[in-house]
Amino acid sequence: MASLGLTRQVNTSVIEFPVVRPRRSPSFGFNKNRVGFRVLAQGAEEPDLSVTVNGLKMQNPFVIGSGPPGTNYTVMKRAFDEGWGAVIAKTVSLDAAKVVNVTPRYARLRAAANGSAKGQIIGWENIELISDRPLETMLKEFKQLKEEYPDRILIASIMEEYDKAAWEELIDRVEQTGIDAIEINFSCPHGMPERKMGAAVGQDCVLLEEVCGWINAKATVPVWAKMTPNITDITQPARVSLQNGCEGVSAINTIMSVMGINLNTLRPEPCVEGYSTPGGYSSKAVHPIALAKVMSIAQMMKKEFGDKDLSLSAIGGVEKGGDAAEFILLGANTVQVCTGVMMHGYGLVKALCSDLKDFMKKHNFSSIEDFRGASLDYFTTHTDLVRRQQEAIRERKAIKKGLQSDKDWTGDGFVKESESMASN
Ligand SMILES: Cc1cc2nc3c(=O)[nH]c(=O)nc-3n(C[C@H](O)[C@H](O)[C@H](O)COP(=O)(O)O)c2cc1C
Repeated sequence: MASLGLTRQVNTSVIEFPVVRPRRSPSFGFNKNRVGFRVLAQGAEEPDLSVTVNGLKMQNPFVIGSGPPGTNYTVMKRAFDEGWGAVIAKTVSLDAAKVVNVTPRYARLRAAANGSAKGQIIGWENIELISDRPLETMLKEFKQLKEEYPDRILIASIMEEYDKAAWEELIDRVEQTGIDAIEINFSCPHGMPERKMGAAVGQDCVLLEEVCGWINAKATVPVWAKMTPNITDITQPARVSLQNGCEGVSAINTIMSVMGINLNTLRPEPCVEGYSTPGGYSSKAVHPIALAKVMSIAQMMKKEFGDKDLSLSAIGGVEKGGDAAEFILLGANTVQVCTGVMMHGYGLVKALCSDLKDFMKKHNFSSIEDFRGASLDYFTTHTDLVRRQQEAIRERKAIKKGLQSDKDWTGDGFVKESESMASN
């Protein structure tokens, strides 16, 4: 497919930036044919939030991230009814009997003074595993949802052990329910790596390459690989996943964390029978880290896969439309929300859509594609920042000094040249 790209005239410089497109259809590319933004006329239609990603049409880019908000039929139905663009179900595996959860499994960080129960929640640690519900039950519910909501996008999140036959069986069984796409959980940071699952695969590019090969040889729907941030360079597993047939990358899963130590009992939190284990950190506090990871992946995708039909789903600390706008400005096609839904409920999508529309109206953007990736090219190296600053200082000094010599006077710029040498 021809590459997409968008060229925008800002002040005097021309800035090129990425735009979307679609295994089988729109995704991560650059529209060379589009020049400038469409401007919303006074009283014109509302901005269009709909997106088409890997051929999947969503009414808005807001996707329920895999976790408690996608654990069963009742809550996923609720998400569709409230207007979420897509739902990614809680991660399933073949044998739920091996998944044994503990309680408490969440610990929260508040913005107020240490220990205060009143401050705003800014960080959320969980030591929750993948779905502990029988696979048969989850599959029955996927099928029922797709029958009741044929036009809505339901994505299965799956994870298996390092066993080709197990992956093939799981893919076959979830696909038979009619789901629209699959997200592979290569990123669960706790519990599952002990069984060579989740982050154990996502952190090992050799294993990842082999497992992606198995998965993509079997899958007939688009496949997104969900990345762990608990790795030095997140672009490496993202690149391997895309090179080995995945249609998209999702990032980030939770960040390895220890929420704290109870200074009365001296035991770590969340405390289960006096003991704890490191868990996954999410919510507002991870948003800046997620932005950095998504920015790195987006730059890599633009540079190395710009002409391919690939997509990027951004996740981490989204609670406001502006948080989502930031991810889209970096090149994300969709934006997932997990902890935000646990804190504010499914109705959050209405506020997210309304915030995002306000942002789009302010900038005269009529569609998500009008601004997707618009901020990506403003990231550079520190060395380049130094070079740019030195150049700017040189220019400012030159302006202050006026002309270097009488031979530099020009007829056309005479008035400005005179002003540049005046003191007031
Ligand atoms: C309680 C809880 C359970 C989660 N379970 C899963 C899971 O089963 N599969 C998965 O891929 N991600 C899981 N996640 C990770 C989220 O999908 C998401 O990547 C992460 O929380 C960051 O986004 P957020 O700040 O919007 O929550 C879970 C997160 C939380 C908080």
